Amino acid sequence: MFSYIYKAIILPIIFYQEAAALSGQTQIIPWSSNSYGPDGPWQAVNIRIGTPLQSIDLLPGGSWMSNVLGSSVCATGSSCIAQSAGVYDNSSSSTNFEIGQTGTIGNSTFSHTVGALQTVFGSAHWMFDTVAVSVREGASGDSFVAPIQDFDMLVISDGHETLPDGSTYPLTIGKLALGAPEFNQSWNYFPPNPRWNGTFITSSMFGEGRTPSNSYGMHIGSAAFGIPGSLTIGGYDQSRVLGPVSSQPYAIDHLPIDLLDIGIGVEAGASPFNFSSQGGLLASGNSTIRISMQVAVDATVPYLYLPQSTCDSITGNLPVTFQPKYGLYFWNTADPQYKIIISSPSYLSFTFRLNSAVSQNITIKVPFSLLNLTLTSPIISTPTLYFPCFPGQAPGGIFSLGRSFLQAAFIGVNWQTGNGVWFLAQAPGPNTPTTLAPTQIQPTDNSIVSSTTGWADTWSGFWTILDNPTSGNTTTIPSDNTTQSGGGLSKAAIGGICAAAVVCLITALIAGYLLRKRRKEKPAEPNPTLGPHHIQHQAIPPEREKYTGSGFAPQELSTESAPREMYAHTGINSPVEMYAPVGR
Ligand SMILES: *[C@@H]1O[C@H](CO)[C@@H](O)[C@H](O)[C@H]1NC(C)=O
Ligand SMILES: *[C@@H]1O[C@H](CO)[C@@H](O)[C@H](O)[C@H]1NC(C)=O
Ligand SMILES: *[C@@H]1O[C@H](CO)[C@@H](O)[C@H](O)[C@H]1NC(C)=O
Ligand SMILES: *[C@@H]1O[C@H](CO)[C@@H](O)[C@H](O)[C@H]1NC(C)=O
Ligand SMILES: *[C@@H]1O[C@H](CO)[C@@H](O)[C@H](O)[C@H]1NC(C)=O
Ligand SMILES: *[C@@H]1O[C@H](CO)[C@@H](O)[C@H](O)[C@H]1NC(C)=O
Repeated sequence: MFSYIYKAIILPIIFYQEAAALSGQTQIIPWSSNSYGPDGPWQAVNIRIGTPLQSIDLLPGGSWMSNVLGSSVCATGSSCIAQSAGVYDNSSSSTNFEIGQTGTIGNSTFSHTVGALQTVFGSAHWMFDTVAVSVREGASGDSFVAPIQDFDMLVISDGHETLPDGSTYPLTIGKLALGAPEFNQSWNYFPPNPRWNGTFITSSMFGEGRTPSNSYGMHIGSAAFGIPGSLTIGGYDQSRVLGPVSSQPYAIDHLPIDLLDIGIGVEAGASPFNFSSQGGLLASGNSTIRISMQVAVDATVPYLYLPQSTCDSITGNLPVTFQPKYGLYFWNTADPQYKIIISSPSYLSFTFRLNSAVSQNITIKVPFSLLNLTLTSPIISTPTLYFPCFPGQAPGGIFSLGRSFLQAAFIGVNWQTGNGVWFLAQAPGPNTPTTLAPTQIQPTDNSIVSSTTGWADTWSGFWTILDNPTSGNTTTIPSDNTTQSGGGLSKAAIGGICAAAVVCLITALIAGYLLRKRRKEKPAEPNPTLGPHHIQHQAIPPEREKYTGSGFAPQELSTESAPREMYAHTGINSPVEMYAPVGR
């Protein structure tokens, strides 16, 4: 068969030296120096595909096949936005091949296909090729190029994304998938030939003895704040994991966790809000959200996809304006509160069930400074600062916390067959050592150990601590004014104080605070202690939620290893049984 021909071709790749001597190390993937929009900026990693090699940047995240933009997406139009990350020309690679059994996606939404970029509408083919990934090996720090054979790709030949108002915009960049619950993605082949396997970066490196396990750890970091991305195969960088780590079962194509609450808090100094902290934002104004709501943590989508009621409660505290065309909130940058909030130590907090436990939780803090994101072309012609709450589910049909959340959170997965888990923890801010702390994940590990660094220290120097109004510096404000009915100063009073004060900015700031002050002010919550945590893993329920994650119709998942609708587009003359992907 044609698919065996490629094996005879000698690949122009520098193979690992002494492959047999490798005992399984963490493999650190270097990140591209470029970052990408149009809703970021987001950092990417680089892989090289085919023979000869074609260099392509991809956003790492998600499972099953990687999604790569084909050169045909740039066939029309002289300036093609996808060109900057790189597009894949399969016809110029001598090692590219396809098999008929995979089916295709034809002029349709991708949201029903497991492993496909949910937000895309268009056409795509599964293709396989040889891929070269640059890695730095954990212990030695030596650099290698790791070749991966039969790399599993969904190559998008044509597609677009759609805004809530129905207008469309072109694709910019694909995704580098980071493994799957199955070791390979497998399709039936014609007997007596064996079934066909597409491979993933995590399992392929483990299968060849390069890593200690089929796993990864990732912190996408922040391009705007210069927090470098961190992606480790077979382990994680311990300096990216702060405080308690939650581990829980993964689903067939997403990482689900119970979200208990969303709050607003301030890590140090005075609050830029009319409260020192506020909780209850997840369920506020929505009686259907009771104890918790399951969400997916998903690096393949950009926003915080939350119920309308939740976005309403969060943004009720922020100088933002909802823009129905985009389904997003634009920061009112002229509002003095905007700059104060996003440069202060204030954050949006997300409290989750810890280790699927009934009575324990874990809180991840996302500073508002990281939620000062930018919409750019081709979504909008003028770069526009936006707050990434998106009222509604992600296109895959589940409320999701996307890349905007993951700027501040560490995720990892141990894909170990049978009882694998995924990990969630607080990630550090910009004050993070450049010295890596690569740490292995062993095949049976269902917990990982975090670093002893305190989260606030990783942001020190990068935020402006507001003067506490109860400190000596606030004495310029007459105390009787603060108690008048209505709870604040008149505009005339603020003007008068400002005219007399030495530092008008500080006064205006404090006055703004007092203006918003309400009588019912909650007492400040003590900051949860951050420190070394050796994680005691809670028992994972034996009944895995693998195929029953909310939002996915059971009938679409009936074949255990078959991603949804994977072969639904196969030609009607072909018996479906022959093409069904099979388990390992
Ligand atoms: C795919 O993997 C299975 C299980 O390891 C193996 O039996 C089969 O030979 C593989 N197929 C190919 C084409 O390598
Ligand atoms: C995965 O696929 C590769 C390539 O076909 C094959 O060599 C390997 O045996 C497969 N492994 C498993 C566990 O199926
Ligand atoms: C209330 O929450 C549910 C999820 O539990 C969500 O589907 C619904 O859209 C929310 N209602 C509003 C008005 O946001
Ligand atoms: C918000 O983001 C924009 C674009 O990255 C940046 O220029 C600006 O300085 C940021 N604002 C603050 C206060 O950090
Ligand atoms: C999280 O746990 C703490 C300590 O047990 C508890 O006080 C708090 O109410 C919990 N938060 C949520 C949202 O369940
Ligand atoms: C008061 O303001 C001065 C100068 O603005 C500053 O150096 C000092 O740290 C402030 N004191 C307090 C208690 O905030």
